[in-house]
Amino acid sequence: MKHSEAIHAGQAIYTKPVLSIYDLWVLGFSNSVVWRCPTKNLRHHYRKHVTLNHLDVGVGTGYYLDKCLLEQKRRLALLDLNNNSLEKAAERVKRFKPEIYQADILSPLNLPCKPFDSISINYLFHCLPGAIKEKATILDSLSEYLHEGGKIFGSTILSHGVHQNFAAQKLMAFYNNKGIFTNTRDHRTGLRDELESRFTNVKIEVKGCVALFSAQKGDR
Ligand SMILES: C[S@@+](CC[C@H](N)C(=O)[O-])C[C@H]1O[C@@H](n2cnc3c(N)ncnc32)[C@H](O)[C@@H]1O
Repeated sequence: MKHSEAIHAGQAIYTKPVLSIYDLWVLGFSNSVVWRCPTKNLRHHYRKHVTLNHLDVGVGTGYYLDKCLLEQKRRLALLDLNNNSLEKAAERVKRFKPEIYQADILSPLNLPCKPFDSISINYLFHCLPGAIKEKATILDSLSEYLHEGGKIFGSTILSHGVHQNFAAQKLMAFYNNKGIFTNTRDHRTGLRDELESRFTNVKIEVKGCVALFSAQKGDR
């Protein structure tokens, strides 16, 4: 598959019908039974790191934004390549009047906006094509939109350095075959190396097949 086709495949699955069952299938069932990282762990991680000036990248259905953001005056921005995801998430969190950016995170961003105090990338890396080193270029692009001392955090499903049960092996192989995931070479040490070469205060916790990570720009 060509690189541009692989980028397209990583987001094309998120049609309106798929998004209507995403929370049930991915967040309700797969996270607990297949990836063995129940969604409550991911909610907890989100709440711990999100700030009042936040950009969410790879928004999906907007589940974490809806469930984890306290009803406070805040700046919220959404970035995704897929317009269905943006529409669904924006509708769900319209109470925060989000800024909306449709962009491919693997291309130069040129966003007409001020920096953020936190940026989240939940379940995005495993959708992006290439090896972890190539995917990690998104960290450089996003870092430009992060204040000094700001946090980048998220989660990704790994295929190496984690234990996969039978269901995880089968579903991961199926998703990789369809181009929905590209994570056959994603290893927790590679993820750590890429985060540590750019950020400070890097923390990675692995639960089931999922790495939950956070890092800081600069050392403030
Ligand atoms: C697996 S969903 C994650 C949704 C949500 N963050 C979660 O954790 O449940 C991946 C999201 O990333 C978006 N995405 C995939 N490839 C992208 C790319 N190259 N640029 C921007 N967004 C992308 C998809 O459209 C989708 O909304």
